[in-house]
Amino acid sequence: MFYHEPIMPERILDILDIKKDGIYFDGTLGGGGHSLGILKAGGQIIATDLDADAIAYSSERFKNEGYCGRYTLIKGNFKNATAYLDELGIDKLDGALLDLGVSSHQLDTPERGFSYRYDAPLDMRMNKNQCLTGENVINDYEPAKLIKILYEYGEESHAKRIVQKIVEERQKERITTTGRLSRIIEECMPHIRGSHPAKQTFQAIRIEVNGELDGLAEAVTSITRRLKTGARICVLSFHSLEDRIIKEALRAMSTNCLCDKSIPVCVCNHKAEIKLIKTEKKADSIELLTNPRSKSAMLRAAEKI
Ligand SMILES: C[S@@+](CC[C@H](N)C(=O)[O-])C[C@H]1O[C@@H](n2cnc3c(N)ncnc32)[C@H](O)[C@@H]1O
Repeated sequence: MFYHEPIMPERILDILDIKKDGIYFDGTLGGGGHSLGILKAGGQIIATDLDADAIAYSSERFKNEGYCGRYTLIKGNFKNATAYLDELGIDKLDGALLDLGVSSHQLDTPERGFSYRYDAPLDMRMNKNQCLTGENVINDYEPAKLIKILYEYGEESHAKRIVQKIVEERQKERITTTGRLSRIIEECMPHIRGSHPAKQTFQAIRIEVNGELDGLAEAVTSITRRLKTGARICVLSFHSLEDRIIKEALRAMSTNCLCDKSIPVCVCNHKAEIKLIKTEKKADSIELLTNPRSKSAMLRAAEKI
């Protein structure tokens, strides 16, 4: 079964510079493509994923590849990485990776409700045990909150018009499927060309349902602080909002002073903890052709000092 094609796998392995028996944290396991590369290069893996499917698929995959005893897979949020590492008695890491967002498996499994391409229940949960679903967000949120979500998380400039139509429709009957939501958006934006008119709304709702941006900067900071000196972190993001958070978090850690520019002498005494690694941020032309998902990928990397 195809699960997910890892993005920029060679470049990421190159940057992480895998050491034999080194311990690497993969916060977003998915189909285990990146982690398998690390295992093959001699590293050991501690990985998290919110999705039970990812844990089941990758654990079977790693076992079949003969890596038993070399990996620990945790169904959980990478935002709790520090607690998991403490529980496992692991102080410092030899490297870390976050490949944010959703996997192809999640997008391409109709009943998960992530995609406007299929008609399915409006679910969108990475963690199937959580309560909040896309249906709750679309039907139960106040219009003003919904507009803000579409505008901020989807960068949808037609947020107001879309939400007005959603509110009209949900008053008639609860919106419970991706198909109906997608048709509502298409009807109110008939002249939009290029990508599907529902694309940004679906992205926004998914980010809200899974709390994707909540605590992201803090998570990147705390995982980076668990790196050994000279060890590296790679982060792949897929939209500008996410990338801005990563860029800011890493910039703050790589700066010697965070005082306001108007203050002539440093009073914060902040010391740089990392150095940023210069790398090609976008996928190369061959990957762009062979893996359409790589188009929006943005890679950032840093090294603990
Ligand atoms: C882009 S996929 C990762 C693909 C993976 N690198 C591979 O090579 O197959 C992202 C995965 O991260 C998971 N995920 C997203 N946010 C998460 C979080 N905060 N904590 C744990 N897992 C998360 C998703 O469920 C999804 O399986």
